[in-house]
Amino acid sequence: KEVASCSGRRTYHDDMAKVLYTESVIQARVSELGRQIAQDYQGKAPLILGVLKGSFMFFSDLVRAIEPCPRGLTLDFIRASSYGSGTESTGEVKLKTDLRREKVEGRHVLLVEDIVDTALTITTVSRFLLEECGAASVATATLLDKHERRKLSYRPEYTGFVCPNEFVVGYGLDFDEEYRTLPYIGVLKPECYSHLGIEAPEPDGSGESGD
Ligand code: XMP
Ligand code: MG
Repeated sequence: KEVASCSGRRTYHDDMAKVLYTESVIQARVSELGRQIAQDYQGKAPLILGVLKGSFMFFSDLVRAIEPCPRGLTLDFIRASSYGSGTESTGEVKLKTDLRREKVEGRHVLLVEDIVDTALTITTVSRFLLEECGAASVATATLLDKHERRKLSYRPEYTGFVCPNEFVVGYGLDFDEEYRTLPYIGVLKPECYSHLGIEAPEPDGSGESGD
């Protein structure tokens, strides 16, 4: 691993070109979303479904902010990865889950995502829940909406922030599995990936990503 190329930058904090959303700004927005979701889902026994891995931090903050908590609320997770070759995504999204019709049929599902970008992931997950699992409804809470890059039209019901068209890390979001634990969201210095010979990472580029 290219730890040497980051010499002089000892921590993840040192790799940030700028912070887009601070910890306190994120926490305030998550509280607002939680209160709104609590109101909207009273009496609906929602199934809150985290899309792994990127949503883990938003998910755990958001579910605690769903107050007053609707009776019958339960949690589960689904793993989604997009595959591509080179820097072009094939558009194929693979789901890994043990969710079956028995667990989902008739439930009001709220998907929790870190970021909706092209919307290929969230569209694939929604279709699976509605068509194969018989969900009564599917809505999405995403922390970030990078709507400039849409390939499919999709409007999330709950959005934390509309995000500029830049590659972002932190608060669950990674670059090559790093930076997920940062409590804020920021943009990396170009030298953090220039050793790869690229200007900026492709979120759904080569190999397995998107989770
Ligand atoms: P789609 O294009 O399917 O993308 O809406 C969803 C997934 O792509 C990843 N993604 C990012 N990951 N920084 C990241 O760390 C980004 O700026 C970014 N943009 C998209 C993410 O995993 C998301 O779930
Ligand atoms: Mg993700």
